[in-house]
Amino acid sequence: KYAVTVAGGGSTFTPGIALMLLEHMDRFPIRKIMFYDNDAERQEVVAQACRIYLKEHAPEIEFGYTTDPETAFTDIDFVLAHIRVGKYAMRELDEKIPLKYGVLGQETCGPGGIAYGMRSIGGVIEILDYMEQYSPNAWMLNYSNPAAIVAEATRRLRPDSKILNICDMPIDLEEKMADMCGLSSRKEMQVGYYGLNHFGWWHKIYDNNGNDLMPQIKEHMKANGFADALSDTNQHVDESWVHTFQKARDVYAVDPETIPNTYLKYYLFPDYVVETSDPEYTRANEVMDGREKFVFGECRRIVENGTSKGCAFEADAHATYIVDLACAIAENTQERFLLIVPNEGAVENFDRTAMVEIPCIVGCNGYEKICQGAIPQFQKGLMEQQVSVEKLTVEAWIEGSYQKLWQALTLSKTVPSARIAKLILDDLIEANKDFWPEL
Ligand code: G6P
Repeated sequence: KYAVTVAGGGSTFTPGIALMLLEHMDRFPIRKIMFYDNDAERQEVVAQACRIYLKEHAPEIEFGYTTDPETAFTDIDFVLAHIRVGKYAMRELDEKIPLKYGVLGQETCGPGGIAYGMRSIGGVIEILDYMEQYSPNAWMLNYSNPAAIVAEATRRLRPDSKILNICDMPIDLEEKMADMCGLSSRKEMQVGYYGLNHFGWWHKIYDNNGNDLMPQIKEHMKANGFADALSDTNQHVDESWVHTFQKARDVYAVDPETIPNTYLKYYLFPDYVVETSDPEYTRANEVMDGREKFVFGECRRIVENGTSKGCAFEADAHATYIVDLACAIAENTQERFLLIVPNEGAVENFDRTAMVEIPCIVGCNGYEKICQGAIPQFQKGLMEQQVSVEKLTVEAWIEGSYQKLWQALTLSKTVPSARIAKLILDDLIEANKDFWPEL
């Protein structure tokens, strides 16, 4: 039986993940769940509700929550990390500051993603170090954002650590593609995929009998993008997400040979994204008014009632990939996942030192990469620009370099000039002074 620490115990996603873990106990048996957060107050609410839920549904599991690293990371097998340094208040600024200058505001793309990256690097490295200090054999399954920048930081700073960087967006989109083909799950497909995190393309999709599913998926993308396909997730249902799934039709049209990750919208149609954004009310506001209120309201209700009976929490189906990944390591299942890993030739004509998102086979000793061959000029050009943004951001963090961060912003395809980049940067520095290293 396994012991798991959830880093980001006060996250709005934590209850859904805890319930999801319980649902999969038959294949991933758990003896202990620990929550860890550096915000005691926020975690308290979520953890107290989860304690009640666990006591009622799985009393055999030892449960605890703490802000003390030694307690959190001692005697564990896995760390599930989904931290948000600066919380939603800072996400709001990441989104709104660029919009002031007519540049898109998004938590992982463009200036907002760079700002968030500069906050996240230290937090993720700190957790990794705690895990290695107190449970040297444990694995960290990291899906903290912005995953591309965080992954590059772990490659640079902790290259030998037992960490797997993974993102849920390709999983969600693969579920939608499976639905387009009448399959019940993405597990009935084998894919070829290359890119950076939130910046990738599918170039091959087969069913488990080797039949090519691309023609069917392309037909669907041409007409609807990802809009009317279902997935088994219950996360991306808000209007702004539906909008993104629709817009994928235009993103697809730019290169109809491949199927794009939805986030390419931000790089290929930044003008459209700015035009359709409300600079006074961004996704952070939507989340704070929606998910945040719902989750904390529900937690308080459970605590007041002293029971989880009738609570509206659901197991986060969207997050079952985390159990799949933990099982792959724990049980050596050799399952395929899209991971964010050092390229080292897997994408033949691309920077060997880049952190790329590609299919890998995962087992008890970690992952093996599946080569994706050479990629077309269009994708290569976009990826070279974007990977440079990510690398410069990490270098800026390591060296405390204003110049490199300015270069990172200037290189971002979402920013029109070095002048605008500087204006945004100076505002971001001011807003992030409690979080960034001094530049
Ligand atoms: C997807 C992405 C995540 C991102 C999330 C944002 O799941 O893969 O990287 O964090 O969307 O969702 P939200 O509902 O917070 O806007």
